[in-house]
Amino acid sequence: MFEPVLTSFVREPNSFTLDVALRHGAYEGLREALAMAPAQVIEIVKASGLRGRGGAGFPAGMKWGFVPKDSPKPKYVCCNADESEPGTFKDHVLMERNPHLVLEGCAISCFAIGAKVSYIYIRGEFHHVADVLESAIAEARARGYLGQNIFGSGFDCDIFVHRGAGAYEAGEESALLESLEGKRAQPRLRPPFPAVVGLYGCPTVINNVETLANVPAIITKGPEWFAALGPDKNGGPKLYCISGHVVRPGVYEAPMRTTVRQLINDYAGGVRQGRTLKAVIPGGSSTPVMLPDAIDCEASYDGIAKAGSMLGSAAMIVMDDTTCMVWAAANLIHFYRHESCGKCTPCREGADWMLKILLKIERGEGEMRDLELLQSVAGNIAGKTLCPFGDAEVAPVLSTLRHFRHEYEAHIREGRCPLPAEWRCGGGHAR
Ligand SMILES: Cc1cc2nc3c(=O)[nH]c(=O)nc-3n(C[C@H](O)[C@H](O)[C@H](O)COP(=O)(O)O)c2cc1C
Ligand code: SF4
Repeated sequence: MFEPVLTSFVREPNSFTLDVALRHGAYEGLREALAMAPAQVIEIVKASGLRGRGGAGFPAGMKWGFVPKDSPKPKYVCCNADESEPGTFKDHVLMERNPHLVLEGCAISCFAIGAKVSYIYIRGEFHHVADVLESAIAEARARGYLGQNIFGSGFDCDIFVHRGAGAYEAGEESALLESLEGKRAQPRLRPPFPAVVGLYGCPTVINNVETLANVPAIITKGPEWFAALGPDKNGGPKLYCISGHVVRPGVYEAPMRTTVRQLINDYAGGVRQGRTLKAVIPGGSSTPVMLPDAIDCEASYDGIAKAGSMLGSAAMIVMDDTTCMVWAAANLIHFYRHESCGKCTPCREGADWMLKILLKIERGEGEMRDLELLQSVAGNIAGKTLCPFGDAEVAPVLSTLRHFRHEYEAHIREGRCPLPAEWRCGGGHAR
């Protein structure tokens, strides 16, 4: 029976306070880590196989190991709390309900790489969550869990919350660093990678909130325990945000052995009554849609990759048979057009162009050659941009075109959306 690790007490009253967190073992991982050598902590995280929960799934221990040990410069840990991808709302829950777990993860990471300062870069709109984090930091400092000479170990560590201005692109790691330095959130060319040249030109680890929140339990319960929670190379607990046409949308913690079907049916209560499943976007808006016949795969990095999509941020957007897939693609591209940082032409111009074509088709004014044009514009964005935003923005277009071409063609042939008018989303179409 799987016991939640990250969300075990988030429904308790005042779960965000230090007293409640301490009752559940908060800061024990930090205490144990400080009794080890930093290199040993990195080895334990490596052995656990913990993969980054921000989207790419890169092994966290390996990333920490890239930080040069002999650098004379200060080092930093940046906790990526920008969380702006449509459908993604898991980090929010951790920070709001279990902030001390996140702080503890940041502090252990600082110790492991030799940093004394960590910044939590939080999405600007999360006012309440930023306040909760700041109160938690103040509480931890006042009681000696942060600050000077923690647990008498000689290790000093402080954490600061930095509020972003609300840009999706600011979650991209190098754009995040630019923003932290007070500049526009636009990505940097890599290499050099942040582990060597990061914040203020210094070695920096950037990890997602959920990634860091896993670290305390890895230290206290051991890397083998962590790895055994999930399939090979997909260990640990995982937070899934399930939204869309399900009975109980929400954040659910489960091992990565759980299938996409189980998450939708057993956790989120299934597709809303009287309707059938049409498609799922498994990992946030940047991942290709999956059809109902593919959802018996494990909801792990490797399981979803084998099924032709990506786990991404584990944000499952469930769509039932009332969803117009042309409208869904247009709606997502509307978001990407708005959020493109504008640094590279294919992304900046391409998103606008794709939206125009999609809206034309959706209005019933499309021509068959528009489908080839869409494909060609998308092909000129994917793999041709400075950051992965370009690949992300073409995923909704290419995957809906692949799986639902008949629906695009029906719009063009019939000169209207082929679905019943009453199914349309209250006229809320992207413009
Ligand atoms: C456009 C874009 C937005 C991103 N937004 C986030 C985000 O909000 N949170 C996050 O953790 N990672 C985000 N990422 C991924 C980060 O660049 C980076 O891979 C991640 O923070 C690394 O942490 P992890 O290894 O713990 O996953 C984004 C990437 C891109 C391309
Ligand atoms: S791909 Fe888009 S978001 Fe990324 S750098 Fe280029 S313009 Fe900016």
